[in-house]
Amino acid sequence: MITSMSPSKPRGRDLITDIASLRGDFPVLQQQVRGRPLAYLDSAASAQRPQAVIDAMVAQDSHNHANVHRGVHELSERSTDAYEGARTKLRRFVNAESTDEIIFTSGTTESINLVAASLGTQILAPEDEVLVTRMEHHSNIVPWQLICERTGAKVVPAPITKEGELDLDGFRRCLTKRTKIVAITHVSNALGTINPIKELIALAHDVGALVLVDGAQAAAHLPIDVQDLDCDFYALSGHKMFGPTGTGILYGKATLLDSMPPYKSGGEMILTVSFEGTRFNTLPHKFEAGTPNITGVVGLGAAVDYLSAIDPDALADHEHELLDYATDAIKEIPGARLIGTASSKAGVVSFLIDPIHAHDLGTIVDREGVAIRTGHHCAMPVMEFFGIAATARASFALYNNRDDIESLLKGIRIAQEIFK
Ligand code: ALA
Repeated sequence: MITSMSPSKPRGRDLITDIASLRGDFPVLQQQVRGRPLAYLDSAASAQRPQAVIDAMVAQDSHNHANVHRGVHELSERSTDAYEGARTKLRRFVNAESTDEIIFTSGTTESINLVAASLGTQILAPEDEVLVTRMEHHSNIVPWQLICERTGAKVVPAPITKEGELDLDGFRRCLTKRTKIVAITHVSNALGTINPIKELIALAHDVGALVLVDGAQAAAHLPIDVQDLDCDFYALSGHKMFGPTGTGILYGKATLLDSMPPYKSGGEMILTVSFEGTRFNTLPHKFEAGTPNITGVVGLGAAVDYLSAIDPDALADHEHELLDYATDAIKEIPGARLIGTASSKAGVVSFLIDPIHAHDLGTIVDREGVAIRTGHHCAMPVMEFFGIAATARASFALYNNRDDIESLLKGIRIAQEIFK
């Protein structure tokens, strides 16, 4: 079920409640693929972009492009305004206290690498522990493994249940005075599980640990309020929330970011450089070395405008309805096995249809114009836990409808005929 937490629900203006009407905003969906209407059910991998995002990027490139923070000329000023304007939009989107707390990155993966490399080097020592969960994406495991190898600390995975929920007692048992960092996903990409993130953050803080939340799969589906959550870091990716690839943010509490060493070095992140020593720039620029992805950030700002105009409760209802419809239909299919049956789920259905391999299923439904993801979804520890190599995964976004699910069900029936 999609749970709606709405502390940051926008007020004071009309929000869009007719979610079905939004499909028309996405030009890529208005096509046939392999002679069939495209049923795009792979938004957890990468969501499509509305025309408003495409237009914002074309306008930036057609009229305004120049480097940011560096020029006194008109185009540089326009680009800087657009870039910093996007930072203000992102601050509002996650309800951060200050724009200093919004670092532009290439996406969630880079955001997590930044914290692991910078904070990890600073605070981890032998015997310390970084607590993750067994449902993490590789991006929230491997950066911690690398920094633990360098510092002598250890990555500890909190257990999950056979439903694909976090084992809360197990999580509590893993939290000790050795736990220095807790890195947890808000929503699992492989299972769809929505974690009780606020409760987990409070538990981690009780033992003095800092908490990073991987919000890649949450940002397009749930309101995010970093002050209400009281997380120390929150990472998200533009391309999962209707923005361009190669964009994202790291939110971090200003006091922490201020005290952390730079992650990348070069232009823009310095105040002065001499061979006697270099002074680093203030936040947020200290963490943004080099010319950034200016057009991408402008597109990400437009994606935030797009999402912020939608009523979060109507969005949750729409995606919840699709999730229930698909789950009920797939579980009735002979040979079906659902992977991830948590009581609180986002729009992700991971499944297997015995005896068909997930990759064969993906290939056959593709012939019906249905795009799903198959494989381990960059979450091999999840696959290992369930004793499988791969799943087929249908993931939903605001532009999906029941016809998309019907196309998937038809594709599954065709695959079953072939493998009979
Ligand atoms: N992490 C992305 C997914 O879940 C790529 O598909």
